[in-house]
Amino acid sequence: MKVLVVGGAGYIGSHTSYELIRGGHEVVVLDNLSTGRFANVHPAARFYTADIRDREAIHQVFAAETAYGAFDVVMHFAAKLVVEESLCQPLAYYQNNVEGLRLLLDVMVEFQARRLVFSSSAAVYGQTTTSLCREDDPTLPINPYGETKLAAERMIHWVAQAHSMQYCILRYFNVAGADASLRIGLDKDQLTWLVPLIMQTALGQRDKFMVFGSDYDTPDGTCIRDYIHVTDLAEAHLLGAHYLMMGDQSLTANLGSGSGYSVLQVLQAALELFDFPYEFADRRPGDPARLVADTSRARTVLGWQPQLDLRTMLESDYSYRKTLLGQAEAGGTTMP
Ligand SMILES: NC(=O)c1ccc[n+]([C@@H]2O[C@H](COP(=O)([O-])OP(=O)(O)OC[C@H]3O[C@@H](n4cnc5c(N)ncnc54)[C@H](O)[C@@H]3O)[C@@H](O)[C@H]2O)c1
Repeated sequence: MKVLVVGGAGYIGSHTSYELIRGGHEVVVLDNLSTGRFANVHPAARFYTADIRDREAIHQVFAAETAYGAFDVVMHFAAKLVVEESLCQPLAYYQNNVEGLRLLLDVMVEFQARRLVFSSSAAVYGQTTTSLCREDDPTLPINPYGETKLAAERMIHWVAQAHSMQYCILRYFNVAGADASLRIGLDKDQLTWLVPLIMQTALGQRDKFMVFGSDYDTPDGTCIRDYIHVTDLAEAHLLGAHYLMMGDQSLTANLGSGSGYSVLQVLQAALELFDFPYEFADRRPGDPARLVADTSRARTVLGWQPQLDLRTMLESDYSYRKTLLGQAEAGGTTMP
C-alpha cells in the first residue's frame, strides 16, 4: 500500500509509520511540525512540511506524489488534542481539527483518494454513564476537543456517502508506551495524562504524583481507565487500512484494552519499576469511576488483538524518556 500519513511526525502517526514501513508499505508523511518532530519521521518515509489549514499546501503534496502513484489510503492523525487548551482556544481547535479535515477531504475528493483511516477519541462519548463504552452509545462531548472530533466524524460520514469514499474511524482510549526501538515515543511535557505524570515524577521533573480520589465505587477505590500500547494501536491502523482495501464497507471502532486498570494498579506497576513520591487527594470534579472500551468490534471485524501489557507500556515510555534526556544532556535534542 502507498499511505499518506497526515500528522506522521507526531506520537501515534510516527508509530503507525514505523509499523507500515516494517510491513513493507510505502509511507509519505505530511506534517506542519507544530507538536511533532522531524526526528520522529521514519528515514524511509518521504516527508513534506505542510499545514492542513492551507488547501494549496495539501494540494501540492497530492500533486507531487501523483507522479509516483496514487495514495491507496490516507491516515489522518493531525490535530490539536489538549483538552484544557481546547477550553481556552475553541476556535483554534475548530480551525485545525474541523476546517483542516474539510480541506484535506476536499483535496482527497479532487484526487479521488477514497480511503481514510481517522484518529478519533473516547472524548466523543463525553460523560458516559455506562462502564463499558460501545460505539453506538450516545456521543455527548463535554469539551471543544471532543466536539471537534465528533464534528470530524460526522463530516467524514457525509463526505464518504456523497463521494463514494470508505472510512475507518478509530476511537482511541488512553494511549501509552514507546516503540521497542526507543527511537520514537511520547515526548510532550504539557500533557496531564496519567502515564506522563507518573514518568515525570519518576524522572524527578515533578515533586510528587497525585492520586485524585480513593473512594470511588471500584475494587480499590480509585478510577479505572483503559490503556493501550501505542504499538498495538498502530497495528490496528494497518488492519483498518487492509479492511478498507479488501471491501467497500466503512467502520467506526473503539481501540482500548477492553479491561482497564485502576489508578492504583498503574501506580503499583510503576513503583515496581522505579521509586517516586505520591500522595492521595480528594476527587476531582467530573471524573467518572470507570471508563473502559468495549473493543469487540475491532477484535471481530478487524481481527485486532492487542499484545502488549501495562508493564511494557510503562517500561518503554520510561526508557524512551531516559533516552531523550540523555540526548538532551549530550546537546543533541531537547524535550519539547
Ligand atoms: N495521544 C492520545 O492518547 C490520543 C487519544 C485519543 C485520540 N488521539 C488522536 O490521535 C491523533 C494523534 O495524536 P498524537 O498523540 O499523536 O498527537 P501529536 O501532537 O503527537 O501528533 C499530531 C501531529 O499532527 C501535526 N499537526 C497538527 N496540526 C497540524 C496541521 N494543521 N497541519 C499539519 N500537521 C499538523 C503535529 O505537528 C503532530 O506531528 C490526534 O488526532 C488525536 O486527537 C490521541
